[in-house]
Amino acid sequence: MALILVAAAVAAVLAAVYSLLGRIASYRRLAHIPGPRWAAWTDLWLVRGQLSGQLNFTLQAVNEKYGNLARIGRNWVVCGDPEELRRIWGVRSNYKRAYWYRGLRVDPYRDSTFSTLDDAVHDELRAKLLPGYGGKDVDGLHEIIDTQVAGFIKLLESKYLAEEPSKKSNASYRTVDLARKVQFFTLDVISALAFGNAFGYLEADADKFGYIRTTESTVPILMSTAIMPWIVNLLQSPYLRPFMPNVRGMVGIGTVMNLAKEAVDARYGDQAIVKRDILGSFVAHGLARDDAEGEAVVQIIAGSDTSATAIRSTLLYIITNPHVYVRLQREIDEGVRAGRISSPITDTEARNFPYLQAVIREGLRMWPPATGLLPKVSKTDDVICGHRIPAGTSVAWAPWTVMRNKEIFGDDCALFRPERWMDISAEHFRAMDQTVMLDFGGGSRYECLGKNIAMIELNKVYVELLRRFDIVLVDPAHPWKSFNAAFFIQSDMNVRITRREEAVKA
Ligand code: HEM
Repeated sequence: MALILVAAAVAAVLAAVYSLLGRIASYRRLAHIPGPRWAAWTDLWLVRGQLSGQLNFTLQAVNEKYGNLARIGRNWVVCGDPEELRRIWGVRSNYKRAYWYRGLRVDPYRDSTFSTLDDAVHDELRAKLLPGYGGKDVDGLHEIIDTQVAGFIKLLESKYLAEEPSKKSNASYRTVDLARKVQFFTLDVISALAFGNAFGYLEADADKFGYIRTTESTVPILMSTAIMPWIVNLLQSPYLRPFMPNVRGMVGIGTVMNLAKEAVDARYGDQAIVKRDILGSFVAHGLARDDAEGEAVVQIIAGSDTSATAIRSTLLYIITNPHVYVRLQREIDEGVRAGRISSPITDTEARNFPYLQAVIREGLRMWPPATGLLPKVSKTDDVICGHRIPAGTSVAWAPWTVMRNKEIFGDDCALFRPERWMDISAEHFRAMDQTVMLDFGGGSRYECLGKNIAMIELNKVYVELLRRFDIVLVDPAHPWKSFNAAFFIQSDMNVRITRREEAVKA
């Protein structure tokens, strides 16, 4: 017995020494890169940041204090320089996805385009997905989005319009949490596109099958565990599989996975239904049945909260900046009067309204909707912002730093000022645009597959709301609750919506 105890003590001491030596070695490897002291010794600094719901601001503060390249973990650095990020994320770069992406598996035992680490597999998958997402193979893409825009307007008109304050009735005090309703809208758009049928959030005006509740409680944890490869390995280990909760059985996400399975089942096999929609395009381009199921789920996760955040935050900036609000509404009204805006506005029409386009870009700049670390690792040693980076180091991005770059956006980059996009040289516009589009990831290798769809949504939604309604915040001192968990969990954006008396409707 005594011998066993001594052996155990020796083993514990050896393990502690081994771990300490490992820590010293990893500390020294990146010791030349400045950053918060604790981050150099433990990844818990980064995990704590991720769990705080404020990591976007924390990374911005880190870059402000330590420079555009800073150390944020034992094997982690963060880069806030747009040019360097474009190089790292670019097609010909020597970088690949870091292990973090493996942690984003929805189904812990299978990869999707979002979680695969293998470049060749990823390229092949993207080739099969691109024509569908790009809309080339899809009939009625715009009409499907229009139907959901109409559903969104109908929901607000039928249940949430307040009367003018002058009319003293209870209806004049009616308010609505716009953050939630916007999410219902984007969930219905994506499900209609991905599965052929909208989930029906707008009609039910409720978190159907608890999907929102489940993702809001699980994603912050998923994003934190993804930072530590050993936890990812542990959670996805085949030995632990019997002890892990079955994702298919989980409220919300499980339901979405089952709906994806049903939709996909109908498209494969002897009596497969052939349709010219996104799923049909995946099938036509040879996507395997299992992969199609996974991709349908990824679309819902990747495409609903991101677009919802873009819409909410831009609306928030619009309604809290009176000069922007008035100018945008005037542009819309004049467009309607001149017959240049259909009902609903088409994507092509929207592109011809310069102030609207400026507002959309400025909104995406002020509040990047997807703030995951998106780390890439170099296959060889590299130099970033003048610092030597050993091969294998995870290089994350800092969206808030990137979007507030004074050289690109000017000294007033902290302000929401759409005018910065107007009456400038083509070269200056391109520099700003390239930077803002980093919101969607970069290069053709990693760029968001749903960017086209997201931009169509944005091109329509502000016009359709502001041509009909006036929107004011109930409590400007507390405009919303917003928690950053790689995507944003946002609620309590309580507003009062009234019908515009003199609205110009087509
Ligand atoms: C404003 C809205 C959106 C933003 C800001 C956004 C942003 C992003 C970002 C940053 C990435 C990751 C790039 C990387 O790994 O480096 C991504 C990937 C992806 N997004 Fe989006 N997204 C948006 C909307 C959408 C929509 C509407 C869809 C679906 C219709 C979608 C589908 C995807 C997919 C499938 C991927 C994975 C691409 C790949 O792994 O190659 N996204 N998005």
